[in-house]
Amino acid sequence: MNKLTLPPSSRLRSKEFTFGVATSSYQIEGGIDSRLPCNWDTFCEQPNAIVDNTNGAIACDHINRWQDDIELIANLGVDAYRFSIAWGRVINLDGSLNKEGVTFYKNILAKLREKNLKAYITLYHWDLPQHLEDAGGWLNRETAYKFRDYVNLITQALDDDVFCYATLNEPFCSAYLGYEIGVHAPGIKDLASGRKAAHHLLLAHGLAMQVLRKNCPNSLSGIVLNMSPCYAGSKAQADIDAAKRADDLLFQWYAQPLLTGCYPDAINSLPDNAKPPICEGDMALISQPLDYLGLNYYTRAVFFADGNGGFTEQVPEGVELTDMGWEVYPQGLTDLLVDLNQRYTLPPLLITENGAAIVDELVNGEVNDIARINYFQTHLQAVHNAIEQGVDVRGYFAWSLMDNFEWALGYSKRFGITYVDYQTQKRTLKASGHAFAEFVSSRS
Ligand code: FCB
Repeated sequence: MNKLTLPPSSRLRSKEFTFGVATSSYQIEGGIDSRLPCNWDTFCEQPNAIVDNTNGAIACDHINRWQDDIELIANLGVDAYRFSIAWGRVINLDGSLNKEGVTFYKNILAKLREKNLKAYITLYHWDLPQHLEDAGGWLNRETAYKFRDYVNLITQALDDDVFCYATLNEPFCSAYLGYEIGVHAPGIKDLASGRKAAHHLLLAHGLAMQVLRKNCPNSLSGIVLNMSPCYAGSKAQADIDAAKRADDLLFQWYAQPLLTGCYPDAINSLPDNAKPPICEGDMALISQPLDYLGLNYYTRAVFFADGNGGFTEQVPEGVELTDMGWEVYPQGLTDLLVDLNQRYTLPPLLITENGAAIVDELVNGEVNDIARINYFQTHLQAVHNAIEQGVDVRGYFAWSLMDNFEWALGYSKRFGITYVDYQTQKRTLKASGHAFAEFVSSRS
């Protein structure tokens, strides 16, 4: 299979449905000398934090190559580009705007406009200025107000050139991976810290939404969550309960407060010191109406009871895995969308990330990543199936435009539809990129 196909009647084949590609600042930009140091610069220096001991100092050198990269996007024929702003590139230590940093993003916006590409900006894709991390990071309630101030300044500076804003990308990863199990920056391992960080991130989202409503009435505003549908590993009641608890603590922990204004009931089972520090008015701020909800989907999660009232995750045996060790499970995307649609009154949904890490080889100037094409094919079909079951999905973004710094896994994993040779920074569109381009161009 080297083509992507869907039924002619599919909503994904209409031009009304948005197709795009996604990246994030720390993963591609490089250019560390022209911004403030961030939490990931620091985390990468910790021994064994990153599997290949690399960092984002150069990454894809997008800071210098952004014009070519936007040409690449335009040549794909997609409608939109989802990228993030590095907070420490646009805001100085004293809280004022960094003109040079603002110009970098304004130039990107101008070029996107010239190419007729819609800008989908993420305001926070995990790169927190280090001086704010030093002041407690997301454990400090004040960080949420600093985020609001940054959003206020940058959205005014960018005028209304931005089609769509996301306040945060995957607060689960910032809070849980960063402060609860410590595999992401800043590397803290503490239940209470994870829960506190999550609450302050949600608060930051709410404060930023107020600013976006005021400053950017013409842009769409929302948030992006990563979600994996949770399945019990067996029919045993203990495993069913474990899967529900995992879902509540890991995924609904974000969706439910945003969409209904309260945390899942699992909040009652947390020790008192780990209960989120909710102040008066917080939940109303957090649950303001969204123009859309962005969902990042990669795989499902299967849980068993751990015998102590908790849960452990296990990847089923004998299933197809990506290079991340994640199960290829497209049905999970349909299940997730249908389940969310039953649980909540949802705004329109966007799939803001979906893709696969594959062991790619550049042979004679080509990358024949058939497994990635298959992944896109089955997952686009999964989105189509969810739409057929009544879910309002309006867009799909491939992760990622190009190979990049995959966080704690450094440059060892490749997610791009474009291959990046990190020695020369040469970009080569993979077979999946060609298939994606052909599919989006065939829409009517
Ligand atoms: C998501 C992140 C993104 C990328 C993919 C593989 O969790 O948002 O930056 O690393 O996973």
